[in-house]
Amino acid sequence: MKIQLKTSSLLAIAADCIVVATWGNQQLSANAQTLNNHLKGALTAFLKKTTQLENTCDSAFFTLREKELNASQLLLVNLGNKKEFTLEIFKKAIDKVAATLETIRCKSVCFAFDDVSPNDSTTGQCIRATAIALQQATYRFETYKSKPKTSALSQVIFFADKSQKNLDDATKQAEAIIAGMDLTMDLANCPPNVCHPGYLAKQADQLAKKYASLTVKTLNEAALKKLGAGALLSVGNGSPHKSKMILIEYRGAAKTQQPHILVGKGITFDTGGNNLKNFDGMLGMKYDMCGAATVFGVIKTVVELKLKINVVGIIATAENMPGGEATRPEDIVTSLSGQTIEILNTDAEGRLVLCDALTYAERYNPKSVIDIATLTGAIITCLGDINSGLFSNNDKLAEQIQQAATTTQDGVWRLPISSAYDAMINSNFADIKNIGGAAAGSITAACFLARFTKKYPWAHLDVAGTASVKAGMNRKATGRPVPLLVEYLLQQR
Ligand code: BES
Ligand code: MN
Ligand code: ZN
Repeated sequence: MKIQLKTSSLLAIAADCIVVATWGNQQLSANAQTLNNHLKGALTAFLKKTTQLENTCDSAFFTLREKELNASQLLLVNLGNKKEFTLEIFKKAIDKVAATLETIRCKSVCFAFDDVSPNDSTTGQCIRATAIALQQATYRFETYKSKPKTSALSQVIFFADKSQKNLDDATKQAEAIIAGMDLTMDLANCPPNVCHPGYLAKQADQLAKKYASLTVKTLNEAALKKLGAGALLSVGNGSPHKSKMILIEYRGAAKTQQPHILVGKGITFDTGGNNLKNFDGMLGMKYDMCGAATVFGVIKTVVELKLKINVVGIIATAENMPGGEATRPEDIVTSLSGQTIEILNTDAEGRLVLCDALTYAERYNPKSVIDIATLTGAIITCLGDINSGLFSNNDKLAEQIQQAATTTQDGVWRLPISSAYDAMINSNFADIKNIGGAAAGSITAACFLARFTKKYPWAHLDVAGTASVKAGMNRKATGRPVPLLVEYLLQQR
């Protein structure tokens, strides 16, 4: 999908479809008025008689006569009451528009929305939100279909009255973000017999081959054993695929600048291990590497945008399988930090791979560390597929993430990690146990991670509900929280 900003006359723009806004009280936006003048008042007349634009977020095609405009179709969108216009409403409207464009198999589209900035946002954010809506509507994972179908949409134009540096930047960011989301979703949707820890390592190598600003190093089982990463290693014991820690380093600033670190949970399939999941529980567990996939996508975006910061991605990857050599409930392992862990449930494996990656992160003297993990089913019970769970040991970092979530509409909700919860993971036989109990499952999981992140500002995103969502019997990847994390990093420049 090619995205451009155009500042030439609106009437001159050639596209399959041009999209302009109207307001709830049958008012035309400024751009719609420009077209209306050209069409000799036909849009005003149309607005008066149509019933298709009654509700906020409704859209309707205005039938153009031949050669009336350079564009072949004209789509009007009702953005509601101007005084109540928010980014949330814009997002809802644009999601519907994107779906409509996809059903008419539109090849090129122009959005003329520079005249309708939401009261709580900017035109730049609208550009990014529109690009994401289009990515979501047109994305297909057809690699394994014998007759793959693709979307027709290949060209997107954002019209702006005059050239503005920030809109130029927003357009470039929009393009880079959706390229990142594409990568995240492709990796996430990939079947688990193909996407195993070695595959992820290979993907990282390929990324480094493509971009000179990236360096990739992968720690294999021998290296991890030598280091003492006993927690990470314990998870892959039942699998023929070897566990790995993949380090992706992006240098966009001086070596002396502390990096921002993203740690991704990369369980390429989670059977639960000896605490085997049932049918319903296991289906969808190829998505247990969505945290890792998010790290890939964000780094791709950062590289494309050449951000002047340093970023390190750490991917802790393993396959959680039962088998003769698989970890047993009641096994005790020693983590990279030296803390011993009593594994009471082999299905609480995410925290085991993450804790060693989080300890490893100390070596980089990080400015901030954010881990992204499909960590608990409990977070779905708690927040559904609307917000990701946010946990942090640093209020300033948490607020920055909350702000980025609001700006991008890639929501988070903060939950506590106080000492009373932390006490629930004390073990009788080791320093920590890997489950708390039936109550507060997402919080005790976060408390577990918090014991390994005392040396730097840290946040944890539990994305079990948001990184993939139910689609009939299957799930499908959403590309979240790539928009949120890119926005967070954009604010760190
Ligand atoms: N990968 C799962 C969490 C999950 C569940 C992600 C559903 C997406 C959808 C995680 O490894 C897990 O199995 N967690 C257990 C923890 C429990 C054993 C303490 C869970 O949520 O049941
Ligand atoms: Mn599990
Ligand atoms: Zn898992």
